[in-house]
Amino acid sequence: MLRPVVIEELSKVYNAGHAELAVRAVNRISFSIDKGQSVAIIGASGCGKSSLLNILGCLDRPTEGRYLLEGRNVAELDEDELARLRNRHIGFVFQSFNLLPRMTALENVELPLLYGAAKGSHARAAAALGRVGLADRAGHKPTELSGGQKQRVAIARAIVTAPSILLCDEPTGALDSRTGREVLELLQALNREGTTLIMVTHDLAVARSLDRALHMRDGIIKADGPSAAIVDAFVATQGEEGDVVASSKGGSGDAPSAAGATGAGGPC
Ligand SMILES: Nc1ncnc2c1ncn2[C@@H]1O[C@H](COP(=O)(O)OP(=O)(O)OP(=O)(O)O)[C@@H](O)[C@H]1O
Ligand SMILES: [Mg+2]
Repeated sequence: MLRPVVIEELSKVYNAGHAELAVRAVNRISFSIDKGQSVAIIGASGCGKSSLLNILGCLDRPTEGRYLLEGRNVAELDEDELARLRNRHIGFVFQSFNLLPRMTALENVELPLLYGAAKGSHARAAAALGRVGLADRAGHKPTELSGGQKQRVAIARAIVTAPSILLCDEPTGALDSRTGREVLELLQALNREGTTLIMVTHDLAVARSLDRALHMRDGIIKADGPSAAIVDAFVATQGEEGDVVASSKGGSGDAPSAAGATGAGGPC
């Protein structure tokens, strides 16, 4: 079976041309992800989680190594081909929602369809808003929505193109614990329907509730396996890594805690 995500010896070096400024954020890592899997990426701040996720989402290109997305080597694609591949396969959800403030919820959700000039974009955006339980907020602007509603609009925008992979960078990080749990349940429901879910999180209860966890440290994959085992081992190394993370006590299904969240970074 074709694996939707395969990376081989992948590196991301920022400022690669300037020896004194160069940062090796991702350092020769390799792994693959099966269709329909849910995967948490955990690790201390600055260990390279977002850098990796941005490459998986084709928002950034690797410096070295190979990334096969749905069997296509992204390095061989030009900008247009890459944009099309991303549009077809990837939905991205950010901690700070990244909604356009002057547009309504419906217009925000419709946006990815307009890039591809898809037919029936209005109806599809309305259906996606309905899927996240916000049909009655279609005409609201982001400032008229709660944090959890904004994140649900962002999820509707991510799924409106029916992507095979949903990438989430701290999707519950800016939300209180109850709202965070609702957003997590929505993402898990999408995963049960077949969408591959890859999520960066500082919240270890959230990480535990997924199938698998990758523990990153200093740009490498330090551990990879069933989430409960990886989170337990990570907790044991926390003093060593000096990370601030939410409690992982209580096991899978617990409410994700907002402790350790860094707060919303964007205007909406
Ligand atoms: N655009 C950039 N230019 C230079 N260095 C960068 C850039 N983006 C990230 N870095 C550096 O790369 C390293 C990894 O950053 P990254 O954002 O991937 O970490 P992270 O694990 O997502 O951290 P956090 O948990 O705080 O979000 C850090 O040392 C960071 O300072
Ligand atoms: Mg990050």
